[in-house]
Amino acid sequence: MDDLTKWANQGVEGHFTEPNPWLTIDDIVVESSARLVGGLNDEVVVMNSLSTNLNLLMLAFFQPTPTRNKILVEHKPFPSDMVLALFVCLVD
Ligand SMILES: Cc1ncc(COP(=O)(O)O)c(C=O)c1O
Repeated sequence: MDDLTKWANQGVEGHFTEPNPWLTIDDIVVESSARLVGGLNDEVVVMNSLSTNLNLLMLAFFQPTPTRNKILVEHKPFPSDMVLALFVCLVD
């Protein structure tokens, strides 16, 4: 059964049923991801899209103060990166 059929038949339950329970689907790439970044298997996690991860990172670490309140981005950043930078500034 392909994953779209599984989704059509099981919906969210597909996270827990064989074959390929989606809950642990990233397990199959942990070892190669750890090798890629020079880490140990329990030091890596594969998750989300680049934009989602960047958003989470910026929301967690950007703590503006009256004197440190700017985000520098490269010239002509990837459009969604720019939107995220603006969004994080507006959230505060
Ligand atoms: C620099 C950069 N930022 C953001 C993205 C968007 O990534 P995603 O679709 O995983 O959110 C890309 C995609 O190629 C990218 O190259």
